[in-house]
Amino acid sequence: MKLAKRLQQIEPFHVMDLLARAQTMQQQGQDVIHLEVGEPDFPSPDAVIQAGINALNHGQTHYTGATGLPQLKQKIAQFYQSRYGEQVEPERIVITPGASGALQLITSLIMDPDETLLLTDPGYPCNRHFLANINADGQLIQTKAEDGFHLTPEQVAEHWQTSTVGALVATPSNPTGALMREEQLRSLHQAIRSKQGILLVDEIYHGLTYNGQAPYSAVNYGDDVFVINSFSKYFAMTGWRLGWLVAPKWAIKGIDKLAQNLFLAPNTPAQYAALDCFDANVIEELEIRKNAFSDRLGFLLPKLEALGFRIPAKPEGAFYIYADISGLNHKFSQDSMGFCHDLLEKKALAITPGVDFGHAQGNHFVRFAYTSDIPVLSNAIDRLSEYLQDTQISD
Ligand SMILES: Cc1ncc(COP(=O)(O)O)c(C=O)c1O
Repeated sequence: MKLAKRLQQIEPFHVMDLLARAQTMQQQGQDVIHLEVGEPDFPSPDAVIQAGINALNHGQTHYTGATGLPQLKQKIAQFYQSRYGEQVEPERIVITPGASGALQLITSLIMDPDETLLLTDPGYPCNRHFLANINADGQLIQTKAEDGFHLTPEQVAEHWQTSTVGALVATPSNPTGALMREEQLRSLHQAIRSKQGILLVDEIYHGLTYNGQAPYSAVNYGDDVFVINSFSKYFAMTGWRLGWLVAPKWAIKGIDKLAQNLFLAPNTPAQYAALDCFDANVIEELEIRKNAFSDRLGFLLPKLEALGFRIPAKPEGAFYIYADISGLNHKFSQDSMGFCHDLLEKKALAITPGVDFGHAQGNHFVRFAYTSDIPVLSNAIDRLSEYLQDTQISD
């Protein structure tokens, strides 16, 4: 049967092969450690789960408006005020099926076929696939470790073409966990504005930052900026499929039209459950978890460095460490996929190959997700250490 040509532009995740193998190993009784999973190990907060159950029990099983529950938009607007000191009109907020839904709505709104959006390499791989699905292009820009693997104003100037509509960046980033300083993001915005382009800022890992800096958001940078966020990560609600975007006012009518047609509405019980996310007791619990992530980072980072992994961009957020393996063992210097498969086979430790996040240097990198607690991470370090010793000997 015929498949649409654009499917050729959409790659599966390489890590899925690893996951399938890890599952088989587990079924055979092996104790596999999972540091490849990009979601919090914590369950959704109890109060949120109860609110979801209550919503179902009270018959909240019908469609809401396409852009979501007004009372949830209100809560999110209050959150921008309390957490960031930013005033956001609730009408600018659109509730979506995850950040994934937000990204699809925005790209469908602003991109025509064959137009391009600048993306970072390394970066979240689905971005270019959302674009391919609407016959537009993601132009991967190889970012530099010394820039924290972030897109710079100079790169915008260098790579901008007549077909370029704008740029999409994430801070903190997946896979690096690196944060953009506020001045960095502002100057990137200026560079894009000077080209009359549009800046998309994916703030999905906001809330999970460990450098003690006051949080800032791009929500009020101007009429040429869209912000993407989600209940998946900080709020530990990946499976509920709920996120949001903050759009300039001119864009809302178009987004509403698209949301009606593409999704009809975001998940209703999830929206009612999310109303409880901003309660003081829930935020308190989430902050305790954030501290646990911070402790894990503090544990894992020096241990990986001591084993010889180079971590060129300082991870300060999300729950990822992007580590360079090219100096470790010449056998794997050009093959992150081979490294990950071999590590899984020999030590039952699953991590993600860099080739899932970028073409430029993906083969030199692997991503560790610290979505397990410290005793498990410690066990993982022991296995890694043994693995490195064994492979050096067998070389
Ligand atoms: C940078 C980034 N953006 C967006 C998403 C999509 O998240 P969701 O659709 O669960 O909100 C992810 C998921 O891992 C991500 O890492």
